[in-house]
Formats: sequence, C-alpha cells, structure tokens
Amino acid sequence: MPLAFDNGQVHGDERRYMAAAIEAHDLRRVFGDNEAVAGVDLAVKSGEIYGFLGPNGAGKSTMVKMLCTLLSPTSGRASVGGYDVATQAGDIRLRIGVALQDSSIDGKQSGREMLHLQGELYGLSKPDIAQRMDDVIGLVDIGAAIDDRVESYSGGMKRRLDLAMALIHKPQILFLDEPTTGLDPASRTAVWNEVRKLNSEEGMTIFLTTQYLEEADELADRVGIIAGGKLEVEGTPVALKQAIGKDLIVAEVDGDIAAASHQLRGIVGVDDLDVRKNELTVSTANGAAVIADVAVALKSSGATVRSLTLRTPTLDDVFLQVTGAHLAESHAVAADESANAEQKGATR
Ligand SMILES: Nc1ncnc2c1ncn2[C@@H]1O[C@H](COP(=O)(O)OP(=O)(O)OP(=O)(O)O)[C@@H](O)[C@H]1O
Ligand SMILES: [Mg+2]
Repeated sequence: MPLAFDNGQVHGDERRYMAAAIEAHDLRRVFGDNEAVAGVDLAVKSGEIYGFLGPNGAGKSTMVKMLCTLLSPTSGRASVGGYDVATQAGDIRLRIGVALQDSSIDGKQSGREMLHLQGELYGLSKPDIAQRMDDVIGLVDIGAAIDDRVESYSGGMKRRLDLAMALIHKPQILFLDEPTTGLDPASRTAVWNEVRKLNSEEGMTIFLTTQYLEEADELADRVGIIAGGKLEVEGTPVALKQAIGKDLIVAEVDGDIAAASHQLRGIVGVDDLDVRKNELTVSTANGAAVIADVAVALKSSGATVRSLTLRTPTLDDVFLQVTGAHLAESHAVAADESANAEQKGATR
C-alpha cells in the first residue's frame, strides 16, 4: 500500500485520497521514563469504524491526542486524512472532529450558544452555522434542552453536546475518546446509535477508544487491543474471537476447588483450564460434546455447581490470551497503580 509519507510523486487532494484515513508508523510518546505509546503501527481505512480497546493507562488518550495534533509524538510518524501530524496540523484540524475524554463542558451558556461559537471558531458563515446546527442538534437528539444552560446538563447530555460540537464543521474523520465511559445504559445506547448513523449515513471514518469490550464488539469494523502502550492484536471482532478457536465452559462452584479442577483436567477434550476464585473456565474444541462430562466430573468431585454455561469466546477472552489478564483485572491493576502513585506523590 502506498504510504502518505513516502509517496513523493503525488500531491494535494490526489495524495489525500490515496492514503488511508489514519496511519501510524512506529508512533511513540514518552512521559519521563514512561513510554505511554510504545511504537504503534496502524492503518484505518476511509469509512471504517476502528475501535481502540484497552484498560486504564494503556495509552489510548495519548494516541488520540497525537493523531489530533494536540500532542507531539516523541518519535515515529502519523498521518490523518493524508496529512502529516508533525508538519500539516492545520490541514488535519480542519478535517477532523474530536470529542476528548476529559473535555468538561460547563457554564452558563446554552448548548445552542456553544455550538454557534464552535461554528464561528471553524470560520463557518452564518447561514452555514444555522444549517449545521439544525443538522447536528437533530442528529444527537438533545431536544429542547439545547436552549438550557449546559451547567444543568446530565453527564450523558454533556457527552452528546460534546459530540455535536465535534460535528459542527462536518468532519471527514471523527475521534471519540471513551465516548460512553460513565454513562448509563440508555445514554450509551444512544451514543452507539449516533456513531452508527454518522458512519453509515455520512460515511464518516471513526476512531473510537473504549474500555468496554461490548462497545468495541458492537460498533467497530476492526478492533485494535492496546495494553502498556503496545498494539497487541488487531482484526475484526469476529476474526479475533474465532482465532481463539475454542468453546468455553464456565462453571461457578462452591466447595473444594482444587478437587474440582483435578477432575476437570482429567476429561478427554479439555484443552485448558483457567481457575479464578470459584470460577472454573474450560477451553475445548467442542463444548457441546464435553459439557456433560464436565457436569459429571464436578458432581463426583463433591463440589456444588451454582452455574454451568457454555459460551463462545468474547473479546475479553482475546484480551486474556494476548495479555494474560482479563480486561477488568487490568483496570484493577491500573487503578491500584495510580492509587500507589498518588500516595507516593503525597509523601514526596
Ligand atoms: N501529560 C502526561 N504526563 C505524564 N504522564 C502521562 C500524561 N498523559 C498520560 N500519561 C501517562 O501515560 C500512560 C497512558 O495514559 P493514557 O491517558 O494515554 O491512557 P488511557 O489508555 O487513555 O487510559 P484511560 O482509560 O484511563 O483514559 C499512563 O501511564 C499515564 O499516566
Ligand atoms: Mg484515556
């Protein structure tokens, strides 16, 4: 594939169309001795929804900020819309919309006033602003609250106004950094629907970060799993899950876990066993064929079976396979680390 950077033969718009919507080559960002993004390569096609999935502190926001030209890379290269983040930031900013994770909309202005101001900042004409405001207000469905002060908005409404502001200039490429973290299920579903609509009706390329595997699974054409600043694995959700190539049987049991584990390991067809507290997860090529043996083995071990489920792999199983931890456990580790760091900071 021709790269945006080394294709010296082509210029202007022609060059832009040849390039992927977003490309990164060995992109790195270091903070002190912490490599937040540690050499990421990726290419997002035009019109694609790309899900960047990873736990707290994985480097998602750092990646987004570099791609949006808000933070300089320490090394490596990236292009957005065919323009280089290091040398063509102005061209990129005109073509992208950004809803950052930590943007805090607040104050006495109404949503409508904030949208208007955003349109002016992008240099849109008055009639264009009026038209675009109608479009985006309709799209993100804020309703009559658009004329209320934003300080009165719920978290979900602020997120949706943030999204509307990112869309006012009709960007080609939209960056959403954890658009649904902290939202209730209804608001989350509303954001998902908006993202799908923007992609299918406007053909917008969307780069979305998330800590939620269901979100990546539901929305993304392709998912990249990031942990510790590194892109560990990438593919369509279906392909990633299929690559595990196993069925999973999950048993929640009370009693002698060691005895139950021993019995399960003895079953023909059990390829692997993961034991976490009172949850035993069997990997097998054919779950339907093995589940009866699992039930019998658990019974003969003397354990009380609270639930027994046969399921296909999720993106969390993919995450477990590539990083050795569940996504939720990585959250806990990252939270502990940041709590420790805060404590250290406090004693310094
Ligand atoms: N401005 C900064 N100064 C110093 N360290 C930073 C800075 N921004 C991020 N980091 C560190 O870089 C690493 C990656 O942070 P980043 O915010 O990119 O992660 P994230 O995947 O977005 O996490 P979260 O899901 O919590 O938002 C973390 O270790 C973080 O502490
Ligand atoms: Mg973040």
